[in-house]
Amino acid sequence: MARPKNDDFLRALLREPTTRTPLWLMRQAGRYLPEYCETRKRAGNFLNLCKSPSMACEVTLQPLARYDLDAAILFSDILTVPDAMGLGLYFAEGEGPKFERPLREEWAINDLTAPDPYDHLRYVMDAVVEIRRALDNSVPLIGFSGSPFTLACYMVEGGGSDDFRTVKTMLYSRPDLLHKILGVTADAVTAYLNAQIESGAQAVQIFDTWGGALSHAAYEEFSLAYMQRVIAGLKKTHDGERIPCIVFTKGGGQWLEKIADIGCDAIGVDWSTDIGLARQRVGDKVALQGNFDPIALFASPEAVAKEATRILDCYGPGNTGHVFNLGHGINQHTPPENVRVLVDTVHAYKRK
Ligand code: CP3
Repeated sequence: MARPKNDDFLRALLREPTTRTPLWLMRQAGRYLPEYCETRKRAGNFLNLCKSPSMACEVTLQPLARYDLDAAILFSDILTVPDAMGLGLYFAEGEGPKFERPLREEWAINDLTAPDPYDHLRYVMDAVVEIRRALDNSVPLIGFSGSPFTLACYMVEGGGSDDFRTVKTMLYSRPDLLHKILGVTADAVTAYLNAQIESGAQAVQIFDTWGGALSHAAYEEFSLAYMQRVIAGLKKTHDGERIPCIVFTKGGGQWLEKIADIGCDAIGVDWSTDIGLARQRVGDKVALQGNFDPIALFASPEAVAKEATRILDCYGPGNTGHVFNLGHGINQHTPPENVRVLVDTVHAYKRK
């Protein structure tokens, strides 16, 4: 199978030369787009949207129809994996994700097993196949998963949290139980990402959204080690093409050298890290992805262009190794016109 017509995104991740700096945006298909809100209304709710391959395909393509983005990302959610593990995911209107059966009891933790992705997550694989067909090799498709630790946060807390009191209490008082959860979840994530790759995902990203909430000592043991285990089990090629893997630990700027050592091809960085210094720190070991503050998209078009240029200048010369992105997901109230300014500024930029 050949590379897509526009393969700048894959080239940048593999540190091959590119014609321009490629970009995509975390959560590029979402509520800031009126057409997304329309489809979501038709679906009835967010989970129905995720579980319908044809509607998931439709919303995946929406941001690409509007903007000249260099990659598509599968429309789904990281919490489909714990849902498939039997925790009962639901979204209470305006309250974010929740689980009917959070993981708290020792017996439930001991009973936890990794689901077969082709069975319990078939709808995700069907969506990947349908999206690849619709993209017709124009741009690459990114598959994704939550990191074992980030998934464990939601599984143990039963939903989002400000302080992660329940999961961190488990970490300090019963580390054996948390390790049990993380081990099974790492197996689940590995099988899930491999199934996405076999179904047609051309790169994968691991979202370690809450790794940065851990202490310096705990990050390595409870988040990084399990991402390393996932990456060790990933298919590195499919249909003769390398499948690059991106690790995004929000708040992980202080651990870049350690993250660069776990076998990933690229590191996602949030806006709190200087991307030029990050580049010096990782050298040519990995590519970097980021790191525009998503809230800067609320400023004037001139300010958006200026901030994007600052980041491109900060990354520095050389025509590879940088995938432009936001430092976290796009905010639902973002003005869509400013996204166009961002995309056009990045593509018009000439590297020195
Ligand atoms: O990037 C993309 O366009 C792909 C789609 C995607 C979604 N969620 C769609 C979504 C991806 C990659 C995710 C990942 C995800 N989901 C993460 C990791 C990335 C991150 O943002 O840190 C996390 C922590 C989740 C869990 C989750 N899902 C939360 C906390 C919420 C509620 C947040 C909110 O803004 O209300 C969701 C729901 C969700 N996932 C939405 C979308 C578009 C909004 C749902 C809606 O339409 O109401």
